[in-house]
Amino acid sequence: MTKYIVQGGKPLFGEVEISGAKNAAVAIIPAALLVDGVCRIENIPQISDVTMSLKILEQLGAGIRTINRHTVEIDCSHIRSTRTSYELARKIRASYYLIGALLGRFGQAEVAMPGGCNFGGVRPIDQHVKGFTALGAKVLVESGFIHASAENGRLKGASIYLDVVSVGATMNIMMAAVMAEGNTVIENAAKEPHIVDLANFLNSMGANIRGAGTDTIKIRGVERLRGGSYAIIPDQIEAGTYMAAVAATGGQILVKNIIPKHMDCITAKLQECGVEVEEHEDTLLVRRTGKLQKANVKTMPYPGFPTDMQPQITTVLSLAEGTSLVTEGVWSNRYRYVDELRRMGASIQVDEKTAVVEGVERLTGAPIQAYDLRAGAAMVIAALAAHGQSEISGVKYIERGYENIVAKLQALGADIRSVEEPDETAAMEAHIG
Ligand code: EPZ
Repeated sequence: MTKYIVQGGKPLFGEVEISGAKNAAVAIIPAALLVDGVCRIENIPQISDVTMSLKILEQLGAGIRTINRHTVEIDCSHIRSTRTSYELARKIRASYYLIGALLGRFGQAEVAMPGGCNFGGVRPIDQHVKGFTALGAKVLVESGFIHASAENGRLKGASIYLDVVSVGATMNIMMAAVMAEGNTVIENAAKEPHIVDLANFLNSMGANIRGAGTDTIKIRGVERLRGGSYAIIPDQIEAGTYMAAVAATGGQILVKNIIPKHMDCITAKLQECGVEVEEHEDTLLVRRTGKLQKANVKTMPYPGFPTDMQPQITTVLSLAEGTSLVTEGVWSNRYRYVDELRRMGASIQVDEKTAVVEGVERLTGAPIQAYDLRAGAAMVIAALAAHGQSEISGVKYIERGYENIVAKLQALGADIRSVEEPDETAAMEAHIG
């Protein structure tokens, strides 16, 4: 079992290079299944969710060639199967994109019910199913698998109005519709930067998608997608996490390789908290010298404040002067990490979707647990800001979405290291057994 050991209380200084966006990569990799040819994908983050997505494609018969650390070529000209391995697919949430991609290209898909981060609430996919059904697919769940198949082998364009703004459903329906017969319109679509990135990727392979980034996406079905080359956008949430880290510890960092526009919702909130943010063409200079100020935050679909930054901003606010209110507007339950912050001295009360955060003078190091990816990022931020030593376990969640987080933080002067420890539970079970 890997743990991070952090000696907190040191301000961060230096530069950090942001990797490609996880939530774009985990959609674009399965989308390569739609392409009858070789896709070269650049700026792929080196994280475990990407490794898993590539493994799943390989198991389906895709040729995967690693060009360098951040570039792969995927050749889906000779896919052998439309049924994913149960073991692999259930490990990541984003495996649901395999349904849209396989259904869109081959008219059928059998994909294990997705796994992924569980922050306590239910993560339904009814809007995905609604979209596939509108496009003429039959969808049923049996023995842990979702089976989807198009009548007569090809989907038919349709108008779909999403009942909730869903990132996953928007992207999945887009993939399914790209080669459907006729036109598809997705209304009340999500507008996140990774939606636009997926549309740009598909268009660069020959698709005809307009309106991505607005709430109405129009897709004209094409006969086939050919190969091409595409570079994934920088990760908005990874960048925001480093911004939140320097907000919590104090110091000054240059966040490199970002699209400032994507950062506006996070930048504005941190500025409200007293953090200085200077915007340049593809970098942000982030500085915190004075005291942190309270702020109220409500998470919302893009361009609102992202839910995937909620645990990180709550951690920052736990050190601000005054009482802040954080309202989770996307997921029903995303506050499990608050108990861990309390163990470090934070004063936070949670009532359903709202956290009342009373700023404290300081946090103190403690053994803490990462329960999911973004909660894990919040634990790292808390540990960096806290006085004394923290031990973070559950880091496999963090490594699903943050490339080289330990090395990147070390380069900013943080005292953090990754250590391998024997898994005590497993050892005990082996002993008892
Ligand atoms: C994506 O999840 C991200 N995951 C999540 O990031 C992120 O929190 C979320 O979008 C919101 O931005 C990936 O991209 C792999 P949704 P997704 O469908 O697509 C409800 C991270 O930390 N809903 O936009 O699964 C749902 O319950 C991860 O990187 C339905 O009711 O999220 C939620 O309340 C965690 N029915 C809301 O919509 C559906 O069919 C938004 O979910 C689908 C969703």
